[in-house]
Amino acid sequence: MGFRKDFLWGGATAANQCEGAYNEDGRGLANVDLAPVGKDRAAVINGDMKMFDFDDNHFYPARDAIDMYHRYKEDIALFAEMGFKTYRLSIAWSRIFPKGDETEPNEAGLKYYEDLFKECKKYGMEPLVTITHFDCPMHLVEKYGAWRSRELVGFYENLCHVIFNRYKGLVKYWLTFNEINVLLHAPFMGAGLYFEEGEDKDQVKYQAAHHELLASAIATKIAHEVDPENKVGCMLAGGSNYAYTPKPEDVWASRKADRENYFFIDVQSRGEYPTYALKEMERKGIELPIQEGDLELLKEHTVDFVSFSYYASRVQSTDPEINEKAPGNLMGGVINPYLESSEWGWQIDPLGLRITLNDLYDRYQKPLFIVENGLGAIDTPDENGYVEDDYRIEYLAEHIKAMKDAVEIDGVELLGYTTWGCIDLVSAGTGEMKKRYGFIYVDRDNDGNGTLKRTKKKSFDWYKQVIASNGEDLSNN
Ligand code: BG6
Repeated sequence: MGFRKDFLWGGATAANQCEGAYNEDGRGLANVDLAPVGKDRAAVINGDMKMFDFDDNHFYPARDAIDMYHRYKEDIALFAEMGFKTYRLSIAWSRIFPKGDETEPNEAGLKYYEDLFKECKKYGMEPLVTITHFDCPMHLVEKYGAWRSRELVGFYENLCHVIFNRYKGLVKYWLTFNEINVLLHAPFMGAGLYFEEGEDKDQVKYQAAHHELLASAIATKIAHEVDPENKVGCMLAGGSNYAYTPKPEDVWASRKADRENYFFIDVQSRGEYPTYALKEMERKGIELPIQEGDLELLKEHTVDFVSFSYYASRVQSTDPEINEKAPGNLMGGVINPYLESSEWGWQIDPLGLRITLNDLYDRYQKPLFIVENGLGAIDTPDENGYVEDDYRIEYLAEHIKAMKDAVEIDGVELLGYTTWGCIDLVSAGTGEMKKRYGFIYVDRDNDGNGTLKRTKKKSFDWYKQVIASNGEDLSNN
């Protein structure tokens, strides 16, 4: 049996973490450009420290990243050599609308992605395009307060009109917002939200969430109108929550943590605000800025598939003694004593991927797509620049096995699998280069030094073999 014949194997990147060229060909400044590496990054991405322009005291890794803007042909050729069936990338909103609120797009930005998509097609690779991967033009942040303002919905709608029409026939798979639930955990990075003194943060976050959810439904509507072949997905920072013990309070805490994330996907996939969330908002005095027609839009334009990232499961405990936090993908829980951890403390749980796949499939009954998974690790090249990354191969093989079980044994419908950071790129969480996920090593360090030369790692040939065998041959020779 195994994976479907047209299973979409590939890799994933995001514009701001790989392109660089932050001010070329008319591109406008975006929130994601302004997240520095180092100790202030967390405060900036959380919306607690104002960083609306560059200063001399910080290094901003997204400005140049790995320079994929100029090297995409070389990089896509390498992806093709591995046999990618799909390449997940994001467009930078501010390349197409530099300020965000213009009526006419920037032709240079549009042309850039058109050429890039054609390059993918040349190799028979299906582009999987994230419309916003954390980015928001800074002009929209400064003038409108980003997604707290309803006007963003209209600007996003305009962007969607332009890209769906321009890329009709070139792109079929779209994701509206990367890890939409990250808005709650890193609001400046996730949605351009910076908090003014005394603001009710919860109110602002859920207000922004309503606007993004509405924008996502409108994007789905337009995508289907422009081309009925288009398939639109939502995207969750996934990883099911476990209870630390069978104590009912722990179980309940883990359910609540799951629901905080599912809230977004419930709306995008089922078309309605879930009652548990409405009740919680009522208790907290949060008012959703719902206008006439909004609920109908949400109901009528649900997504075609549910995509998610998976790095680790999470654990919730109500015991004050069990309080050592597991560092994780922006939202954490406590440490799971049964699991090993990566060098960044992210816990490694392949079975958790099968559990997450089943949880999502049970809940939504829509095709799923794993659009991020991988191991961030320190790679040390030998004298020839070669990296023997058996640890990465082992991590990926175990996760692919788990996803195979979910498909073969449990019957989960899965469209594809794209590993995160198929080429080394800037970390979203820390801004580091040394946290590497790729099959391709990029010579660049945390301070921006290096030749940017690309070198295949051991995992490059391994993944090629995995794809060629449609996931049957996971052996590491
Ligand atoms: C996801 C994001 O949160 O995880 C990516 O969608 C990010 O942008 C990835 O890079 C891995 O996280 P990190 O912090 O290791 O880069």
